[in-house]
Amino acid sequence: MYRLDSQDSRIFDIRREIESTDLRKQITDGLSSKPRRMPSLLLWDDEGQRLFNAFAQTSSYYIRQKELEILNRIADDIVANAPDGSVLVELGCGNLEKTAIILSAFERQQRKISYYALDVSFDELRDSINSLVERHQESNFVEINGLWGTYNDCTAWIASFADDDIHNFISFLWIGNSIANLQRSDVRSLLEQFDHACNKSNVNYQFIIGADSCNQEGRILEAYDTTNQLFRTFLLNGLHAANAVTGCEKFQDRDWSCMVEFDTREHELLMYYTPLRDISIEIGGHQIAISEGEKVHIVTSGKWREVDVEAICTTAGLGLSDIWRDSENMYCERMMYRTNL
Ligand SMILES: C[S@@+](CC[C@H](N)C(=O)[O-])C[C@H]1O[C@@H](n2cnc3c(N)ncnc32)[C@H](O)[C@@H]1O
Repeated sequence: MYRLDSQDSRIFDIRREIESTDLRKQITDGLSSKPRRMPSLLLWDDEGQRLFNAFAQTSSYYIRQKELEILNRIADDIVANAPDGSVLVELGCGNLEKTAIILSAFERQQRKISYYALDVSFDELRDSINSLVERHQESNFVEINGLWGTYNDCTAWIASFADDDIHNFISFLWIGNSIANLQRSDVRSLLEQFDHACNKSNVNYQFIIGADSCNQEGRILEAYDTTNQLFRTFLLNGLHAANAVTGCEKFQDRDWSCMVEFDTREHELLMYYTPLRDISIEIGGHQIAISEGEKVHIVTSGKWREVDVEAICTTAGLGLSDIWRDSENMYCERMMYRTNL
């Protein structure tokens, strides 16, 4: 594990080789399979992060606004539930806009916290951390660090704590509805991995999970409107990332479009690439033919019902202690506990 010093903070490179080489294989396997798919991690390179941040400002993208509303209200409750001197790990931290609200509450309450922001793209992580560090430069309470890697890398990092790493309690912050970008079964197994890692390192923990339970299809489709240039550019940037991963220009802008579909049974919004003509791509030694209009899945954004989120978390051994909703009852944050010692 390398330590990369940014301006004033520490960023740890916790990536394991396996994840990046896998991405190339995932593209080949996914495009060869039916239904066709691409790995959603392609969306989150440095450019993808910048494009997402711009898109998230769109007035119809209610997720950011609703979550900001809730976090501004409950930041002090979150702090009250984190023991003094404990650790806060944010999974898929993004631009840290929401984190700033929580860290300011730690400062206000004069409660010590070691914060670790985890994300997959280095430049964005470094830039976001540097601006957060500026705010807390004189702080005796808030220590800011970065973790460069994936959720899986993070579980391996926790499991590798040495005996003299005194981390008694970790609060995992998993907000922005990122939980519902995964399949339900993958969420369950990831939560189990975190549980094993914390058990191995003798750490108690809690999760603070922000999930979108909006059940108004019209509102959802308006938020994720592919005619919105910002959203469209964000999605299609995943094809540029695929070119970077495969090392050649397999995917040409002129050949591809994108679309979304709402699955009313599963309460999920599915996002796809679709070719504008019949195409044939040589990749990983395979020639793959994709017909005009065929759907290639890139990412899902679950709009899971509250009971479904709870069921997934409780199956993984987490107990619900608090739940907070926005004023329209569309979005909620929940605090889930696990005392494993
Ligand atoms: C929907 S954005 C949410 C960002 C931020 N948490 C927020 O609330 O605005 C999802 C974030 O998760 C990160 N992410 C996606 N898959 C990841 C993975 N497997 N491991 C770590 N981070 C991941 C992305 O890079 C992105 O920053």
